[in-house]
Amino acid sequence: MATTAAVQPHVLVFPLPAQGHVNSMLKLSELLCISDIHVTFLVTGPTHGSLLAHSDVGSRRFGEKFLLEKLPDGIYQDNLHTLDGFMENLNTLETVGRPFLKEYLGGGRRRWPPVTCVITDGALVSLAVDVAEEFKLPTIVCQTISVAAFWCFVCTPDLIQSGELPIKGNEMDLATRVKGMEHFIRLGDLPSFCQVQNLETPIFKALVKEKLQTARARGVIFNAFEELDEPILAQVRTMCPNTYPIGPVHAHLKARLGTNPPSSNSLREEDRSCLSWLENQPEKSVIYVSFGSLAVVTREQLLEICHGLVNSGQRFLWVLRPDLVAGENGGNWAPAELEEGVKARGYIVRWAPQEAVLEHRSVGGFFTHSGWNSTLESIVAGVPMICRPCLGDQNTNSRMVEAVWKIGLDMKGGWDRVTVENMVRDVMEKRKDEFLKRSEEIAKLAGKAVGEGGSSCSNLRRLVDDIRSMAVSPMKTDLLPQMDVC
Ligand code: UDX
Repeated sequence: MATTAAVQPHVLVFPLPAQGHVNSMLKLSELLCISDIHVTFLVTGPTHGSLLAHSDVGSRRFGEKFLLEKLPDGIYQDNLHTLDGFMENLNTLETVGRPFLKEYLGGGRRRWPPVTCVITDGALVSLAVDVAEEFKLPTIVCQTISVAAFWCFVCTPDLIQSGELPIKGNEMDLATRVKGMEHFIRLGDLPSFCQVQNLETPIFKALVKEKLQTARARGVIFNAFEELDEPILAQVRTMCPNTYPIGPVHAHLKARLGTNPPSSNSLREEDRSCLSWLENQPEKSVIYVSFGSLAVVTREQLLEICHGLVNSGQRFLWVLRPDLVAGENGGNWAPAELEEGVKARGYIVRWAPQEAVLEHRSVGGFFTHSGWNSTLESIVAGVPMICRPCLGDQNTNSRMVEAVWKIGLDMKGGWDRVTVENMVRDVMEKRKDEFLKRSEEIAKLAGKAVGEGGSSCSNLRRLVDDIRSMAVSPMKTDLLPQMDVC
């Protein structure tokens, strides 16, 4: 064994340039900085610009140990919600990102102590591990999606073998053989990228490959906690023994910072006026409606939601992003007959400070697209959900909410105005006590996990120790546990 000398641990964090990914990986970065680890956070130019404009990442918030860096121009970032757009993003990240990473890790652009470990987004594993291996650096994967969705991706080769994939015709209600999830996951609950009729679909092949490549890394971080996903984590550990469920990261960070709460990681300007509006509403009387940063709806769907919300008679706070309706950018959308109902009980913003909204005492329900950050933020706040998944892991998350955790309803079947009205009434009135009780139980488990001595707290400590032990000469990293490659 070569002689080893400890050096300053310095992690390069490499997220996919989308709000949900950037948000959770920035919170992870802040947790690492607090633990005395240097972090370089590498994003695309547009994401870099948005972070500087709308968050305080550029300030001294993270202290001296944090550096925000940007990749060269040329990475496609539009239409990430479409299959083609997502694929183009992955392709340009590869062509622009690979040479840049090589130069960066090789020392060409380094302004800091040498990088000792790479933490990559779960969608960029091959690129990160290939380059890191060239420089004998260890890589850890950060999965920003749910454990359940990750495991569905990993099990797709089994589903192909058993003939469940490709999907033939209308089989969405059929049970699948995703190991450990057979009793509740149907084909319609698989991540949307897996619901293919053609196994050669590029995005399907690329994402499944990336998930399987996770096994090349030294370990895998989940924004999840043991108590929420215990049985599925046990399955994941058969492939990746070294897992770090350290979430919910936003709650974990709050627990660490105590009276000095973290501020926003938003890529858009937040409209905080909705917090004043919430101040004037009765306790648990408002349903908060938001579909995250990427999901789009049609104009018809938007109107169905609006009719359903108004007809439910409930108060609502609604995030209507200017780019929410595909192909349109804002504009006048509310038909005259709904204006009165919207004015009487609704409040509309273009982008909200979501964590603060969900934690507000007036909020009693969340009508969500089931993005993983949104799901965790609702879980932590103890707010029951109505789930209308749009893409990616959201299909799986919404199923977990209804069938496993029992903290809300899954609207996967369709979203006409009657369904919206009935589900809003169920969550806000008829089954309110049942959902609230269960949501509060799970919120307590989340709080315990991130508290001193909790499971996520211990897992973070282990992650930090492992990153420190990797910060030695390259040879020493060979002694760290290797995972089995599938
Ligand atoms: C995407 C995928 O859609 C999601 O399924 C995946 O798990 C992560 O990447 P996104 O669609 O943006 O993310 O959803 P989500 O994961 O819920 O993240 C959205 C983030 O934006 C949340 O942290 C939420 O707090 C924040 N947000 C959303 C705001 O700050 N204000 C808003 O008005 C809406």
